[in-house]
Amino acid sequence: MANSCRKLVFNIYIGFYCSAVIMPQKCICPQFTSSPIDEFNKDAEAFPAATNGQIFPWHELRLPTVVIPLHYDLLIHPNLTSLDFVASEKIEVLVRDATQFIVLHSKDLEIINASLQSEEDVRYRKPGERLTVLSYPAHQQIALLVPEKLRADLRYSVAIDFQAKLADGFEGFYKSTYRTLGGEIRTIAVTDFEPTEARMAFPCFDEPLFKANFSIKIRRESRHIALSNMPKVKTIELEGGLLEDHFETTVKMSTYLVAYIVCDFTSVSGTTSSGVKVSIYASPDKWSQTHYALEASLKLLEVYENYFDIHYPLPKLDLIAIPDFASGAMENWGLITCSETSLLFDPRTSSMSDKLWVTKVIAHELAHQWFGNLVTMEWWNDIWLNEGFATYMELISLNITYPELQFDDTFSNTCFEVIKRDSLNSSHPISNQAKTPTQIQEMFDAVSYNKGACILNMLKDFLSEETFRKGIIHYLKKFSYRNAKNDDLWLSLSNNCLESDSTSSGFCYSDSKKTSNTLAFLRENVELKEMMATWTLQKGIPLVVVKREGRSLRLQQERFLSAVSKEDPEWGTLQERYLWHIPVTYSTSSSNVIHRHILKLKTDTLDLSEKTNWVKFNVDTNGYYIVHYEGQGWDKLITLLNQNHTLLRPKDRIGLIHDAFQLVSAGRLTLDKALDLTRYLQHETSIPALLKGLEYLELFYHMVERRNISDVTENLKHHLLQYFKPVIDTQSWVDEGSVWDRMLRSTVLKLACYLNHAPCIQKATELFSQWMESSGKLNIPTDVLKIVYSVGAQTTAGWNYLLEQYELSLSGAEKNKILYALSTSKHQEKLIKLIELGMEGKVIKTQDLAALLFAIARNPKGQQLAWNFVKENWTHLLKKFELGSFPMRTIISGTTSHFSSKDELQEVKLFFESLKAQGSHLDIFQTILEAISKNIKWLEKNLPTLRKWLLISI
Ligand code: BES
Ligand code: ZN
Repeated sequence: MANSCRKLVFNIYIGFYCSAVIMPQKCICPQFTSSPIDEFNKDAEAFPAATNGQIFPWHELRLPTVVIPLHYDLLIHPNLTSLDFVASEKIEVLVRDATQFIVLHSKDLEIINASLQSEEDVRYRKPGERLTVLSYPAHQQIALLVPEKLRADLRYSVAIDFQAKLADGFEGFYKSTYRTLGGEIRTIAVTDFEPTEARMAFPCFDEPLFKANFSIKIRRESRHIALSNMPKVKTIELEGGLLEDHFETTVKMSTYLVAYIVCDFTSVSGTTSSGVKVSIYASPDKWSQTHYALEASLKLLEVYENYFDIHYPLPKLDLIAIPDFASGAMENWGLITCSETSLLFDPRTSSMSDKLWVTKVIAHELAHQWFGNLVTMEWWNDIWLNEGFATYMELISLNITYPELQFDDTFSNTCFEVIKRDSLNSSHPISNQAKTPTQIQEMFDAVSYNKGACILNMLKDFLSEETFRKGIIHYLKKFSYRNAKNDDLWLSLSNNCLESDSTSSGFCYSDSKKTSNTLAFLRENVELKEMMATWTLQKGIPLVVVKREGRSLRLQQERFLSAVSKEDPEWGTLQERYLWHIPVTYSTSSSNVIHRHILKLKTDTLDLSEKTNWVKFNVDTNGYYIVHYEGQGWDKLITLLNQNHTLLRPKDRIGLIHDAFQLVSAGRLTLDKALDLTRYLQHETSIPALLKGLEYLELFYHMVERRNISDVTENLKHHLLQYFKPVIDTQSWVDEGSVWDRMLRSTVLKLACYLNHAPCIQKATELFSQWMESSGKLNIPTDVLKIVYSVGAQTTAGWNYLLEQYELSLSGAEKNKILYALSTSKHQEKLIKLIELGMEGKVIKTQDLAALLFAIARNPKGQQLAWNFVKENWTHLLKKFELGSFPMRTIISGTTSHFSSKDELQEVKLFFESLKAQGSHLDIFQTILEAISKNIKWLEKNLPTLRKWLLISI
């Protein structure tokens, strides 16, 4: 300890950087009271010790705001042979208050030298005053100590030389490899920084609020190219044949959006009507798969420029397919990085669903160029302002650009997906505290993405499309190159009522009367803010209970909890203090009008103007709430669906199916009633609605199959095959028809073959044999490719052949299908082999390990295997993926959350406790435990009903 409390020595350059992570130690040496650094010597006890034992002058995770960066000059030289990089940077900073130290982020970097200079401060005019560098790895920070206090309002230039190995994982500046057609393995170097990994590539002020300009230079060999956020201005030839590319200075932006890549990729390019050059890069052999992405990116960029009425501010936009990429894509300004399957489209092997995914990814990342890049959230607690908006803008832009993709019809799924999570007690508000890098990573979840998008959609429906659009344009323009928080958004949205739309109630939704005065606007600001606070600062989703009493509708709101029923003792406590301002909508049998009302109280009464037979709330499922109809409500709607389902709009039918099954989970509706509702599906004309009904039946099937409840499994299988026979039998095995015809074909045939439906198995086997005989040359229709491979994978010869083809294939879309097929094998030794290959990371890349484990855990013959593997190899997995990262969360929830027995719950609980004891904790642990408890309860309560219902149905 004595050694760890050495007195601070100035002007002594610490020539090494210790990257060993030490726990935050508190220094309690008395001599610190005499330290000359008065900012922190007053309370030395509060400060931790740096790696060299000196006092580290900062103890918070957030950086001080005394020094702010203005401009970074970065020179990076990666060596793709020795797999490391050397670099130097000059950061121009503004000192806002006099200070004796500069704290910035740095992780796993070896600082070689740090110095300071200033044109504005005479004491620092001569170049290269060397600084003492202290490091505090627990907070990923370094402190530069200056000999004489820096003065307020002056600019200084900090120069740092540093080096590191190219990272092994998927963050920071890392290496990625790919195999050429000729079998050669090549290496590239690529960055991925969001949320907190820019600090792994260069010392920086790595918080979104510290926006600055970046001038980047990259050294490379002539066989490579270098890419960065901005276009290249020039290339200089250095001694020894190295080249140095200089890129234009960026606009003002956050560190997490900086990107650079050294690779040998080729590209296709085009130019938008506004003059932006768009290019798609991929490894040379995959060049032919880049064309769809180019077409989509050009169209979508133009759509966004028009929609936001703001030009994309950079001269170019590159999108690049990275062979090793942990998530789907990252929106770096001007240089979007994507996994190969998220960008490349191979007409031979990419299905309609693959095309939808690529289109969605591009729409999402392009939306970020405005929402996120131009206007950034102040802090990660509001990451929904980035991700919720980007997710919502997918809907807007795809409806305009690709109406034939009918993306609109799947949007409700975006909401249904998050409702599963948000109706558990362990959910969290959209705006949530996040401090540590792991907590920040955990913010990238369905609540930020999906719920964010759903409440924006609800708000748009409430305010009207035009008002909403004007509001977000106002927000984007006002906060361009700056940061924003929730309230800034609400203010921008409420100050933008079209005159003709504003109302006496203060809101400006479309079908209301007109008044406009300052007072109304003032009230409106408050009301919109208040309303939206109930959706962003409060977790969960409301349930609106509707009761007809003659011409009156009694409305009541409560918190919807899918794992707790009203009879449970904890129900009351869990309801306390929850209240939303719900913009409800409803339609009735007597007219086509959409009625609107804001339900702000626990209970309310509405009067129907006419006599009506039925009432349907939440028109088009635009609202983020679930509706329960008491009394005769559900029966009337079920009768209506059976008599003439087209009297309700397709999205309303989808909403009814969803809500009914949610209410079953919560114990508010009996399962047989919800199942009775699905009977009308035989006549359903809307494919998305049909698929929604089918999804629940399939879900129950998988649940009972996994638990080996053989009588119910058999009867449900029988019911599914019998009930959907007309649909199954009319499917052709060709890629034809509308988007939804094709989606239906994939889903229905997949189910039929899974259930061993003889004609399906026969056709798939036939196609698989032909494909094998043709040595993989035969073109199988893309929408049934996965099904054909899965059937083929059931024999050892087929499985082995598929694995061979997996290694050879140059199409990510095909590889995913093969890997899925391989994971459906019933032979444990084959599944074990897959896991081994995934862990080795050669044939099956580490990036695909999470999807592989997820798929194996879905296979009844693999569920135990996958779970045991995760338990036994947790530390190995942690070396590959960060704890809070997408892949790690997929692995942990993918291998556990489907469990439905008490023993399994206990096992998972014990495992999570042991992890917690080792210091690995995630918020989703609680969510998973709740999800398993919910499954247990569901089965206990509903299995007898399901059994009985099936007996009378088949
Ligand atoms: N900004 C994210 C990438 C990201 C994810 C960074 C998690 C840090 C943590 C990007 O815009 C994104 O959301 N990507 C999605 C794809 C998108 C289409 C939903 C992804 O990677 O899955
Ligand atoms: Zn995103």
